[in-house]
Amino acid sequence: MNAPASPRRVIVAITGATGAIYGVRLAQVLRAAPGVETHLLVSPAGMMNVQHELGLGKADTEALGDVVHNVRDIGATIASGSFRAEAMVVAPCSMRTLAAVANGLSDNLITRAADVILKERRRLVLMVRETPLNLAHLRNMTAVTEMGGIVFPPVPGFYQKPATIAELVDHTVGRVLDLIDVPQTLAPSWAGLNGQV
Ligand SMILES: Cc1cc2nc3c(=O)[nH]c(=O)nc-3n(C[C@H](O)[C@H](O)[C@H](O)COP(=O)(O)O)c2cc1C
Repeated sequence: MNAPASPRRVIVAITGATGAIYGVRLAQVLRAAPGVETHLLVSPAGMMNVQHELGLGKADTEALGDVVHNVRDIGATIASGSFRAEAMVVAPCSMRTLAAVANGLSDNLITRAADVILKERRRLVLMVRETPLNLAHLRNMTAVTEMGGIVFPPVPGFYQKPATIAELVDHTVGRVLDLIDVPQTLAPSWAGLNGQV
């Protein structure tokens, strides 16, 4: 077995669901996190949404990754389990990508990398986004959960009283960082009702 990677490698994939801000913010925070090497992938539909929702171009988006992969490059490092990427977050995750992951359909580098993460029993977080949900969506989420993946819809919490969209997004991103064991200050621990202002 290869030694664990140093720095820690985290894969961030942005797919074509609405909520591109989650992937972009996550990549920004990981880029600044000491000891983390971010591998970024953006699907064509994901890039459409990044441009539409955030006004970010391809070059600015790709600058968020330490390493940027083309989703068609199925020969990339992260397509192999021998490359020690310890976690992957799909943020946001479309129902199409969810379906492909749930069925082991490695039809591009995003779904192949997710397949590898699952087979190597590493951490996979899918920030699935759609509403309402049909039975295929629900069954696919169940399948991913049964395989050890974490289904994390970006449903905001209001108990921290977010005043802006940025605060709301940061809280959700902070909870994802907790799941992949990256120290964060975006989502402080709940101090109990008596500890709140
Ligand atoms: C503006 C826009 C918003 C979309 N929002 C969603 C969404 O919230 N959830 C979803 O599953 N698909 C959504 N889609 C559709 C996906 O982008 C589409 O299914 C695409 O094929 C997904 O491909 P990918 O998984 O390779 O990124 C949206 C598409 C557009 C253009």
